[in-house]
Amino acid sequence: MSRRVFLATGGIVLGVLAAGSGGVGYMLHKLNRIGRRSNDFPTTEDMLSRSALFRSYPDLARHIPWISLGDIPTPVEELGSAVGMTKGKLWVKRDDLTSPVYGGNKVRKLEYLLADAALRGRKSLITIGGLGSNHALATAVHGYQKGFEVHLCLFDQPFSKYVRRNLAGFLAAGAKIHYCYNLKEAYKYARKLFKDLQKQDKSPYFILSGGTCGLSNVGHVNAAMEVARQVKDGLLPAPEKLFVAAGTCGTISGLIAGLKIAGMSTRVVGVKVVDSFPAYPYIIRYYAQKVADYLRKSDRNIPKVKIEKSDFELLTEYLGGGYGVITDEGKSAVNRVSEKISLETTYTGKTLAACLDYCEKTSAEEKILFWNSYNSAEFEQSLNYDGLPEEIIQKLSL
Ligand SMILES: Cc1ncc(COP(=O)(O)O)c(C=O)c1O
Repeated sequence: MSRRVFLATGGIVLGVLAAGSGGVGYMLHKLNRIGRRSNDFPTTEDMLSRSALFRSYPDLARHIPWISLGDIPTPVEELGSAVGMTKGKLWVKRDDLTSPVYGGNKVRKLEYLLADAALRGRKSLITIGGLGSNHALATAVHGYQKGFEVHLCLFDQPFSKYVRRNLAGFLAAGAKIHYCYNLKEAYKYARKLFKDLQKQDKSPYFILSGGTCGLSNVGHVNAAMEVARQVKDGLLPAPEKLFVAAGTCGTISGLIAGLKIAGMSTRVVGVKVVDSFPAYPYIIRYYAQKVADYLRKSDRNIPKVKIEKSDFELLTEYLGGGYGVITDEGKSAVNRVSEKISLETTYTGKTLAACLDYCEKTSAEEKILFWNSYNSAEFEQSLNYDGLPEEIIQKLSL
């Protein structure tokens, strides 16, 4: 087994462990007692009003660590007319609005991970990502706000405007940046850093790249249940297909499991945006089944579901030259909707390109939902690059 596969498999094991340990009695009163900043922890009313999952299955709120980081539920809006389609054919889930400080899909994952870290009395966070990782930025911003020292182990990715912006965002959020060349080195460095921080009494909490694990995938189960509720409330028609970016696959897996639990027949279409593990159908199915089983174990009222191959598909043809490499279709899709929503070219541009192509081939009756997983909040950016490792500064000035 290659080291990369080994590491990623280790990620799944850790994810499963995280999911498993989540069930060992995360009682709300415990959260309030153990948390360093107990005012951050939600009341039961808060949990029930913000989470469609907890509202449908209130027992879960006693077992699963969760803190609110922003504005969930997020709205759904009509998008078809903005791109010249029949009104009402294409819809967008505005998960760019999950937080006014820094939104996007990562917020839904961090709401569980940061609660878990605080519950365990951890003081610092370590995570991994590309130089312009949105996950790293979300962790830096929200981790800092919740009082953690945040360490980012970053590896190379193609430079673009948004990579520079995110680097300036890491610095403004006070994150400590470690340059690690590639994914393999980043994991190696993170392991060493973990031990160093332990010795310094900074009790670290490790978050896998993309923030994906058994526990954090619950965030997108909730997101899917939120959509089911919005359909029920008449805010959008039941979509036949939901298009979403597939990177570390926590987002897509949670959505597949959540739609199934909610009894919806929407088929999820993942658009592969990374050239490496774990964006493969068997991993997506594994994660989705795992999170569904974990939730049922925590609350027997949740229906037992079996995730089938037919619940989703993974498109590979929109990846182009690889992770972060801009494609013409992706760029053009970003431009087509720029009056209405702000996307980027690594994840959401490629996903929207696939979605628009599909919409053009199908009848006006078929309803499609596009998942906007990219932050749209203006975030603070450092005006200089003080605090960046020399290797990154050199790359920036090239
Ligand atoms: C904007 C955006 N969309 C989608 C994704 C992919 O999410 P996941 O890693 O859960 O597949 C990411 C991951 O970094 C992201 O930043």
